[in-house]
Amino acid sequence: MTDLSTGYLGMRLRNPLVVSASPLSDRLETLRQLEACGAGAVVMRSLFEEQIEHESFDLHELLEQWTGGNFEAQDFFPAIADYKTGPATYLESIEAAKRELSIPVIGSLNGVTTSGWTHYARLIQEAGADALELNIYLVAANADDTAATVEERYISLVAAVRDTLSIPLAVKIGPYFSALPDMSRRLVAAGADGLVLFNRFVQPDIDLETLTVVPRVRLSTPAELTLPLRWIAILRGQVQTSLAATTGIHSAEDVLKVLLAGADVAMMASTLLLHGPDRLSQVHSDITRWLVEHEYESVEQLKGSLSQAACPDPAEFERAHYMKALVSYSGAVPGVRS
Ligand SMILES: Cc1cc2nc3c(=O)[nH]c(=O)nc-3n(C[C@H](O)[C@H](O)[C@H](O)COP(=O)(O)O)c2cc1C
Repeated sequence: MTDLSTGYLGMRLRNPLVVSASPLSDRLETLRQLEACGAGAVVMRSLFEEQIEHESFDLHELLEQWTGGNFEAQDFFPAIADYKTGPATYLESIEAAKRELSIPVIGSLNGVTTSGWTHYARLIQEAGADALELNIYLVAANADDTAATVEERYISLVAAVRDTLSIPLAVKIGPYFSALPDMSRRLVAAGADGLVLFNRFVQPDIDLETLTVVPRVRLSTPAELTLPLRWIAILRGQVQTSLAATTGIHSAEDVLKVLLAGADVAMMASTLLLHGPDRLSQVHSDITRWLVEHEYESVEQLKGSLSQAACPDPAEFERAHYMKALVSYSGAVPGVRS
């Protein structure tokens, strides 16, 4: 019998399939279904900084603080009223999930400043969450901010939240750092028990009819997997921490790839939103079959066996035979005569 269990954030999960933070956690019934379909753990949708701040700040004050009063930039921020739940409802949803589920329930906070966060991190812990995921959604858009200033903001935020918690802390970050391995080590030194790679930023778009800036939430495609795959492989041997892969994991093949690269868990949102909880049963049975066919006794045995540190040619994950790959491209160009 293949042992699918995996260590993540100091917890032992029954398998590496984790439901990523998304509306999938909004209904208890969906959570029950996801557990029945084989989820190893679930990350609740985030409690957003805007929801916390709304309790104590005026919205305009908040936008002023974030955008420096830039009116056009304010179009990028959705109205507070659009958010479905406030902090109290959020905490209740964690309590309910904990009561109903036997798999670990991970709470999530999403924002950029420390105000209110430490308080709510503690309340999420008190509500029974097994761990907290801190989604630092910080777009470094101000030319006066240096890389060092921005990075220090991350570090102090993680250290402040770590100080208030006794449960494990995961930090979800984006890929846009000049020196990700160094930044990862510093986040771990500041108190992160794990890194979730990568946050998928919602990119604003422009509506040509209304001439307004509109947010566009698009679900991911499997083509997006290669970015977290590469960085997990690079970080695995260099940073001693739990690693979760998120973005572009749609199938058992994708799960197996991130595990081989060195992830401890594979998080999924888009594929479950597209196909429903049954998708998880399919992925579960497909990874089990693959492991048996390839004579693996456990997921632990598989984890990291193709990370950069384990790879005979470490350059595969760096320039990835960049020049050779580009030169060998031979797709025909429509409209061009040969
Ligand atoms: C509709 C939607 C809502 C999401 N809400 C959150 C959230 O509240 N907090 C968070 O950290 N990530 C959130 N995410 C990001 C997902 O957790 C995940 O990291 C991202 O979608 C990439 O994974 P995927 O390719 O499996 O979709 C959301 C994604 C979607 C599509």
